[in-house]
Amino acid sequence: MLVYAINNVAYGFASEVRTGLTRPGQKELPSKYLYDNVGSALFEVISHLPEYGLTRADERLLQRHAREIVERLDAPLAVAELGSGSGKKTRWILESLSQRERTFYYPVEISRSALAMCERELSDIDSISIVGFEREYLDGLMEVAAHRRPGQHLFVLFLGSTIGNFDRPAGVKFMAEVRRILEPEDSLLLGTDLEKPSTQLLKAYDDELGVTAAFDLNLLARINRELDADFDLGQFAHVARINHKARSVEMHLRSKRRQTVRIPAADLTVEFLEGETIWTESSHKYSADEVFQMARDAGFCCQAQWIDEQWPFAESLLIAE
Ligand SMILES: C[S@@+](CC[C@H](N)C(=O)[O-])C[C@H]1O[C@@H](n2cnc3c(N)ncnc32)[C@H](O)[C@@H]1O
Repeated sequence: MLVYAINNVAYGFASEVRTGLTRPGQKELPSKYLYDNVGSALFEVISHLPEYGLTRADERLLQRHAREIVERLDAPLAVAELGSGSGKKTRWILESLSQRERTFYYPVEISRSALAMCERELSDIDSISIVGFEREYLDGLMEVAAHRRPGQHLFVLFLGSTIGNFDRPAGVKFMAEVRRILEPEDSLLLGTDLEKPSTQLLKAYDDELGVTAAFDLNLLARINRELDADFDLGQFAHVARINHKARSVEMHLRSKRRQTVRIPAADLTVEFLEGETIWTESSHKYSADEVFQMARDAGFCCQAQWIDEQWPFAESLLIAE
């Protein structure tokens, strides 16, 4: 795989850590920093946990409907995937497509190790050439669009309900930004996790083995590794919470005692009260109908939607208007 890399991630990390941990009220860290090489490996493990049915639901839908999805789209196509992770589920789409045409697959990933996993996972598929972009979503998508050949349609995948990491207005704004990069008749396959009982959701984001806790705590370990900080990981605990108003599950890291942490590379000393938390991720949950409205608000039309009954999850095919 050819990978276009840009090292703007390290530069932004110190400044975003500083901004998030000095925010008045709720301390916060951007969830994109959960995914370094350790975080991406732990996320892969999470996707196999019995409590986290989301990835399996997404994959069941892609396995069952990949051929129909591809048949609904006109050739020639190029495929871009935002936050591909290991790309495992994408195999279903690419294999269907490879029976019809030779094409390019462009995974856009902030995590270099996820991009490498993605190549290992998918490079054996005939007729598919992989060109990875180690970039933030929209920067990567703009580069992909710049590689578009005359007459070629772009098919963008945003799977795994990663859209849920944005709050609702920001999610629609993000989709509208994606739409602006696309042309009419281009398409977006959007995975959204649907609302389900709180007990089920809390288990999905706080599993018995403690893998999600390790995934969350790795963010502090990453700050120690990359910014020379002295977080004592034993003095923070992973907590999953339901935010009923926002219809989301939040991940927080709770300080077990009053403590001071130094982060030299961010030129920062932070005080934590006992019980105070750092908000590290939100996963918003949707109703299936809501996706139609989100699509319209962002300049798409929802052409088809498939729902997994075992673990309520929707795959929606949106066409740029
Ligand atoms: C929730 S995981 C989903 C992975 C995969 N799509 C799936 O469905 O299993 C989100 C992925 O997006 C990547 N990511 C997060 N924020 C990103 C950003 N701002 N730009 C590019 N990639 C990002 C992460 O590295 C991670 O691999």
